[in-house]
Amino acid sequence: MKYGHFDDRNREYVITQPDTPLPWINYLGCQAYFGIISNTAGGYSFYRDARLRRLTRYRYNNAPMDFGGRYVYLRDDESREFWSPSWQPTRHALLDYSCRHGMGYTVIGSTRSGIEAHTRYFVPLEENLEIWQLKVTNCRATRAHISAFASIEFCLWDAQGDATNFQRNLNIGEVEVEDGVIYHKTEYRERRNHFAYFACSEPGAGFDTQREAFLGRYRGWDSPAAVEAGQLTNSIAHGWSPIGAHQVKLDMAPGETRQIVFVLGYHENPSADKFDPPNSQTINKVRVKPVIAKYLDPAKADAAFERLRQYWASLLDIFQVNTPDIHTNRMVNIWNAYQCMATFNMSRSASFYESGIGRGLGFRDSNQDLLGFVHMVPARARERILDLAATQLATGGAYHQYQPLTKRGNNDIGGGFNDDPHWLIIGVSAYLKETGDWSILDEPVPFDNEPGTEKPLYEHLQRSFRYTLERLGPHGLPLIGRADWNDCLNLNCLSDTPGQSFQTTTNKEGKVAESVFIAGLFVYAGHELAAIASHRCLNAEAATYLAEVARMEKVILQHGWDGEWFLRAYDAFGAKIGSKECKEGKIFIESNGFCVLAGIGLKDGKAAKAMAATHKYLSTKHGIVLQQPAYSRYYINLGEISSYPPGYKENAGIFCHVNPWVMIGETRLGHGDQAHDYYSRINPSAREEISELHRCEPYVYAQMIAGKDAPTFGEAKNSWLTGTAAWNYYAIVQWILGVRATLDGLEIAPVIPESWSGFTAARTFRGVVYNITIERKGEGNSIALIMDGVPIEGNIVPPPANGRKSVSIKGILT
Ligand code: BGC
Ligand code: NOJ
Repeated sequence: MKYGHFDDRNREYVITQPDTPLPWINYLGCQAYFGIISNTAGGYSFYRDARLRRLTRYRYNNAPMDFGGRYVYLRDDESREFWSPSWQPTRHALLDYSCRHGMGYTVIGSTRSGIEAHTRYFVPLEENLEIWQLKVTNCRATRAHISAFASIEFCLWDAQGDATNFQRNLNIGEVEVEDGVIYHKTEYRERRNHFAYFACSEPGAGFDTQREAFLGRYRGWDSPAAVEAGQLTNSIAHGWSPIGAHQVKLDMAPGETRQIVFVLGYHENPSADKFDPPNSQTINKVRVKPVIAKYLDPAKADAAFERLRQYWASLLDIFQVNTPDIHTNRMVNIWNAYQCMATFNMSRSASFYESGIGRGLGFRDSNQDLLGFVHMVPARARERILDLAATQLATGGAYHQYQPLTKRGNNDIGGGFNDDPHWLIIGVSAYLKETGDWSILDEPVPFDNEPGTEKPLYEHLQRSFRYTLERLGPHGLPLIGRADWNDCLNLNCLSDTPGQSFQTTTNKEGKVAESVFIAGLFVYAGHELAAIASHRCLNAEAATYLAEVARMEKVILQHGWDGEWFLRAYDAFGAKIGSKECKEGKIFIESNGFCVLAGIGLKDGKAAKAMAATHKYLSTKHGIVLQQPAYSRYYINLGEISSYPPGYKENAGIFCHVNPWVMIGETRLGHGDQAHDYYSRINPSAREEISELHRCEPYVYAQMIAGKDAPTFGEAKNSWLTGTAAWNYYAIVQWILGVRATLDGLEIAPVIPESWSGFTAARTFRGVVYNITIERKGEGNSIALIMDGVPIEGNIVPPPANGRKSVSIKGILT
């Protein structure tokens, strides 16, 4: 069953039934001010950091779910009936409910009692505020007297303290109301120089800033007493729970439409100029007032919306494709690219599943995310790379995470995840391939953010590579440290203490447990680094990398091969993990996917064997599970992976992030049908018809789909913020469609299904638009390329002569 449909022309998903299995969300903002918004107007907003600068309150894991939001209420002042046009929070029956999630905006509305209302929510570019444009139409044959209310609940900035420290919190809330604008200024009296505001374009019929005055005692957002009474009370919050609520009265002729603009924003004043007059406690509003006035003007709000649309179009237009498969097209052209921008902006911080107070930016996560967004925002990718590299340690190791506000490594988690350093090589390489901007390698970057320790970025890559060579185990394979890509394979943790962190506890010295996955990653990253070195004419250096890579490949084939597939690891006692000798966890996806992706065993048939075994033992109709058989109990030598019930998360869930490694592996074997089949099984659009089972949004990937060992096989969880976005985008675009950025230029080497007659694509690459037409004339993957009518040698398109900015490429597949 479906809960809506795609509107590809407008790049929107239209939800037509409000009680979706889970809140189906969207993101507002793409620079510094952000929000999440659900299909029933739930969600919250923050400035830069979802934990430290949270503007509005949200109740995670609440019942009913998805509470706290940007709520509009309408009240018929004659019948006294009131409702929410976004369904929540009042949950009245509605006509023509729709929620249009688009690129950086959401429009939610409906009709009830002859009154139609829609609110468009978005964050204008380069502003720290959000606009709500509420349009109300009287569809009755008679005049209507309507009160419109808009409301939010303020968060006391630090979302963690806000949810825990009530003995303090209930005393500190402060607001000001001036010219009808509500200012939230908790802690402004002391060390904060920032405040929030909530403004309304129409003359107000009342406001409230104290939650209890608005809701009434023992009442919730589904039945606010002041809305029911039809009159806000002009309350001023002193402590307790500051909110912002506005009331506007609309006296409407039949057919009349009225627009009200609400602006919710964040503003910082210079610390020395916080108050006006200077010795008072009153917020200095000189700088913020013009901003508020500007966006309360509907024409200016419309213009800002138009700019936002153009911005998103300019990003998405960098790669557009038309294939015989509609699910491929809409994910590549719209939603997958858009999700990659969300992971760029949010990393793993704020979603319906990530509370915004947990994790900062992950070193491995953000480097991998680059694969999906570097072509859209190369300049910001450059900055991200330099920030990440600055949290690298002098050893070549890395802080596992850093805080977006401070850009410093997070000491609570620390380092010692031995795969981390290699992702930097892969991230930088993706940047170089996309941009050809070699200057980044000469940028001085400190270690551990220590001034004075700066070395060229290139040296960071060299140290990343060496890090593994200095940490080899008994078989000559890389030591795993705290964990590798699989955060839950905690081989040195050996924890028997409830609640102890699997990720930061190390009870074993770590000189034995080895990772075949890191070995594969090392081979892959080593090839990348060697290519970078030879591009810089460091041929001897490149040769040493390749020699180390060749040596590691040999070790993998000797100690990391199980006969039918690649082993996963050796535990802290030297026992095999991911082997036919094991009782459970005999075969894992990660080492098989990544080793083949890295080209290991392509020549001697081992790669083909590994992919065949992956298919035989791990593939299901909903995607490829992480390992088999699932762990049926807790194993102290394995850690968190065996803490999950079978079929969930890393314990044999369909971990969508790693499925693309197998897709790419299949393309390396020339298996276009198999690669695209795997792609389609987890493609959210292709799963739209089974929304009742899948439950998450049909327009974005989720981290996990429950595996075949789970009672809820096929049910997705943890949508939006996952490396799945970047890797699926990378797999379909660069490996299956084969339009691939390389250090030498744009390569075109599709490995597409046999049944496809071809496809067309437009790719802007290093300032040139390539209009690509692929035609299938035979069944294979050999391609002959013709550029502007002239055949070219090989698969890599040379930069066009005479500074031409647009060329046509024809590719004949035989
Ligand atoms: C999850 C992993 C995640 C880790 C982050 C674990 O509980 O299962 O997917 O990477 O937490 O800290
Ligand atoms: C999610 C984490 O963000 C990522 O870093 C990790 O690789 C996967 N989970 C697998 O554990």
